[in-house]
Amino acid sequence: MQRDPIKYLAEKYQSLKEQGLTWEPRELQSANQPVSIFDGREVLVFCSNNYLNLSTHPQVVQAMIEATQKYGAGAGSDRSIAGDTSLHRQLDERLAAFKGAPASLTFQTGFMTNQGVLAQLGGRGDLYISDELNHGSIIDGIRLTKADRAIYRHKDVDDLQRILEEVATHQPAYQHIWIVTDGVFSMDGDLAPLPAIAELAAEHGAGVYVDDAHGEGVLGAGGRGIVNHFGLTSDQIHAEMGTFSKAFGIVGGHISGSQELIKIAMNTTRTWLLSGALPPGVAAATIAAIDVMEQHPERVERLWKNRDYFLDQMQALGFDTGNSETPIVPIMCGESTTAKALADFVWGEGIYVLPIVYPMVARGKARIRVQLCTEHTQDQLDAAIAAFKKGGEQLGLI
Ligand SMILES: Cc1ncc(COP(=O)(O)O)c(C=O)c1O
Repeated sequence: MQRDPIKYLAEKYQSLKEQGLTWEPRELQSANQPVSIFDGREVLVFCSNNYLNLSTHPQVVQAMIEATQKYGAGAGSDRSIAGDTSLHRQLDERLAAFKGAPASLTFQTGFMTNQGVLAQLGGRGDLYISDELNHGSIIDGIRLTKADRAIYRHKDVDDLQRILEEVATHQPAYQHIWIVTDGVFSMDGDLAPLPAIAELAAEHGAGVYVDDAHGEGVLGAGGRGIVNHFGLTSDQIHAEMGTFSKAFGIVGGHISGSQELIKIAMNTTRTWLLSGALPPGVAAATIAAIDVMEQHPERVERLWKNRDYFLDQMQALGFDTGNSETPIVPIMCGESTTAKALADFVWGEGIYVLPIVYPMVARGKARIRVQLCTEHTQDQLDAAIAAFKKGGEQLGLI
């Protein structure tokens, strides 16, 4: 006798709830800006991916309006069929030029890029070696292949080398090996040791795939990303993946690298071939976001100035800020209950931040993840620091 599906789903949900694994986002009732309205309250936002505040930039918004009026709200098809507008092609080209990569192909989301492209880079007889803290979309993409997988300890180049040496004697020999890493790790704000990874990869004839979701707009000259930041090239880092949902302020994803990589991606990636194109207005807005980034590198400088100030002040107060190297600043709290209590406390003071708790991070490693942006003002930074000071003292964190 089959179980009643509705009853089964209700039980499953109840079980998630009991384990504290349900997620209830707050409702955003305004544009996403440093001052936004969530759940009917005006708050200062310190948990947005909108690093450069481009989602509300007039040039970006205007480009979306004009393209929507010309091309309509949707592309009407997959890019692979009848939805490959001039704007989508222009975006591919502009992005490649911005990244300094030979070519780029844009997707509907970053998640779909990782899931779709990684699924096609290897197969039976190949190996993926992945950092243990890589994003879920990387994990899913690799899972879709028939290749073998190995995981190296977070950022641990010695462990990566150990695996590469061990697999060198694998019989039959692996045909292709891909080393896959986040560029910026989204829970800690730390950087992948990309130069050392590139060196090891070259020694062992492996490809390198980096997810630059939190590096673009943030790292490198004018926000060109982690590969630029480390002075590496597309001969050393073979696939650079990124997203338009973070510093670009919109939505979409891309893969950048050699012409060959892009041809493979276009011809084999199911998430690109078999899913509707980004709306043309989105493509136009993303082109405008690139324009703004190229014309105003000072937006990236202001982001870093805000980040440095916040980090310095929080450290001076005695907070443990983990291993942050970017505008993602974790405030380590230990227990999940402490992280939730601190987030609730500062919410009461008008500051919106996110508690990151088990199972998103290991037990005992719960934290608040603060994300800084270009348009945070001095007063807003000081208000957040003051709220954290009060909450940190009450909870015994400082
Ligand atoms: C490291 C990383 N990769 C990929 C993604 C997915 O990007 P998108 O929002 O474009 O789907 C994210 C977003 O959460 C991310 O943090």
